[in-house]
Amino acid sequence: MTTTLFIQANNRSAEHSVSVKMYDAFLSSYKESHPKDSIVEVNLFHEQLPYLGATMIAGNYKFAQGMTLTPEEAAEHRIVRKHLELFLAADKIVIAFPLWNLTAPAILHTYLDYMHQPRKTFKYTTEGLVGLLPDKKVALLNARGGVYGEHDELAVNFVKKHLRVFGIQDITTIVIEGHNQYPDRSQSIIAEGLRNTALAAKEF
Ligand SMILES: Cc1cc2nc3c(=O)[nH]c(=O)nc-3n(C[C@H](O)[C@H](O)[C@H](O)COP(=O)(O)O)c2cc1C
Repeated sequence: MTTTLFIQANNRSAEHSVSVKMYDAFLSSYKESHPKDSIVEVNLFHEQLPYLGATMIAGNYKFAQGMTLTPEEAAEHRIVRKHLELFLAADKIVIAFPLWNLTAPAILHTYLDYMHQPRKTFKYTTEGLVGLLPDKKVALLNARGGVYGEHDELAVNFVKKHLRVFGIQDITTIVIEGHNQYPDRSQSIIAEGLRNTALAAKEF
């Protein structure tokens, strides 16, 4: 059975958020077109996700080495492992996120920090990092109020960069953009973007 992990990096209401509307549109279309899939949903804002720092780095390292962790290190490491295991267990992953202040939400950065685990998601070689998850398929759903050139954009590019370190190449990207920049066309930009989002879900 295919397992699909849905990650949402926004806790605004669908009424106020375009990336949440995208998440909802993709999820409902996906459920309809993939009724046999097992779906796991994680809203990062509903989780306790401590920042990567000294305690977590020590916990991750000691666990990998089979060493004894302090209670604080063990507590943070358990959270990392929970999310890492969900990510590793998924055949397909959908990540919905907004562009906020020129980049992806900080909580998504923290989540991606958890996925950087040597021998789980990548390995070091003399040629550099080699990703260990080449078979995963990912859909990125992003909304941004302005229109950005491909190279100026720091949310989708940021997330893709991380995924490629893990060896993930099969990435479908759906973007709704410009609805704040062009208020007179805002409704049609969003409506068309949501139609594309629902269509993409059927083919994912
Ligand atoms: C806190 C915040 C910061 C934002 N920063 C930017 C920005 O830097 N550039 C931009 O084009 N739009 C920006 N926007 C607009 C969002 O990109 C837009 O609302 C988009 O739909 C994604 O956010 P949403 O899913 O919460 O609606 C910002 C919106 C918010 C709420």
